[in-house]
Amino acid sequence: MTSMPHRVIVQPDAAALAEAAAQRLVDRIAASTAPVAICLTGGSTPKRLYELLATPRWRAQIPWPQVHWFVGDERFVPPDDPLSNIGMARRAFLDACAAPGTVHPVPTDAATPGDAANGYEHTLMTFQAGQRTGRPLFDLVLLGIGPDGHVASLFPNDHAALTERIRRVVGVPRANVAPFVPRVSLTLPGLASTHEMLFLVAGPDKQAILQQILSGADLPASHAHAADGETLWLIDRAARPLNLNDDQ
Ligand code: 6PG
Repeated sequence: MTSMPHRVIVQPDAAALAEAAAQRLVDRIAASTAPVAICLTGGSTPKRLYELLATPRWRAQIPWPQVHWFVGDERFVPPDDPLSNIGMARRAFLDACAAPGTVHPVPTDAATPGDAANGYEHTLMTFQAGQRTGRPLFDLVLLGIGPDGHVASLFPNDHAALTERIRRVVGVPRANVAPFVPRVSLTLPGLASTHEMLFLVAGPDKQAILQQILSGADLPASHAHAADGETLWLIDRAARPLNLNDDQ
């Protein structure tokens, strides 16, 4: 697996990071052809961004009926479970803003994570074949990084999921970090099928792992990049590695 040189932009703090991410999302949507496909990430970092999208200033800039919302990984729990990634995004902005029929959750009511992955793969491929022929799955993929260098729910020790080159979605029976529930995750090829990949990394507890990733360590997040587009790391000053050469 190749790791790519990284383009990094440092924001002063988490609030500025959320604003910068919102601007990139709005700009990417404006530059895209309908239907626009956005792949959301889970975890705590993006919550601030998601809440921002529901505020009048940002909500007014998004053509909601033209935008479809997916998720890059999901905890294998019911959608109303506090651990649910799509549940967090729904509470933060999707329920208030998204147009009917534009939110595409992972079917976590399936019998197993593998069945849920098969179902989501069908959702993604059907949407692409039907409405985005000849285009990547997504126009923008949002991602975070875990303390172990995981991305989505692709964990360092999960060789099968990390080396999957055909499937776009896989079941992950065991999570490497909390929450220790089974997961469903897009694979590296699934995540790479996008015009833009945007990592959001904030806080001092990410500085060490970010240093490793930007130095080329062989970690899952090191191998995630847009296959035919831009990969950008938006970080805040607290997460900034000491020896970073960044864009500003
Ligand atoms: C998840 C996320 C996961 C997340 C990282 C960072 O399901 O937990 O998709 O990959 O992006 O673990 O999470 P934080 O933003 O909470 O640090």
